[in-house]
Amino acid sequence: MSHHDERTFVMVKPDGVQRGLIGDIVARFEDRGLKMVGGKFMQIDEELAHEHYGEHEGKPFFDGLVDFITSGPVFAMVWEGADATRQVRQMMGETDPAESAPGTIRGDLGLDLGQNVIHGSDHEDEGANEREIELFFDEDELVEWDQTDAVWVYEDEDH
Ligand code: RTP
Ligand code: MG
Repeated sequence: MSHHDERTFVMVKPDGVQRGLIGDIVARFEDRGLKMVGGKFMQIDEELAHEHYGEHEGKPFFDGLVDFITSGPVFAMVWEGADATRQVRQMMGETDPAESAPGTIRGDLGLDLGQNVIHGSDHEDEGANEREIELFFDEDELVEWDQTDAVWVYEDEDH
């Protein structure tokens, strides 16, 4: 295990939880061959929302974004795998579901920019994945385990 252990932070947003999409979204990452190493059903408070979306503070959509992300429970996750951060973002589609290709999570499951079902760490923001994992999870909430079918996902895993 070396280049297969990149971790990224992913979250089903309150709209996705309310619409019963947690299972669908988890299944997509499992099917892809990624490995879940953390998962937590939780309510985001105002303080955590401000910290998580700090980069957007001052923008016109910021208050609405904080209201939305604190409006109900979310399902926060950590997924691990080769190039995980970028691969998850590709699977998510564009920020705006209306611009997202069919087959992507937002393109299949959403229609509205303000309720776009899922968050994933930005692969273009160096270190965002690790920062967000740390913000949402304690070290002892992350589980190290052997994904026995990884040998069928990665050619260079030993059989
Ligand atoms: P996220 O952080 O939630 O995964 O989404 P993202 O990276 O694709 O997009 P980002 O630029 O980080 O924006 C965060 C969230 O703010 C809302 N937004 N609204 N009205 C607007 O112009 C606007 N722009 C962004 C979206 O809900 C987006 O997910
Ligand atoms: Mg973002």
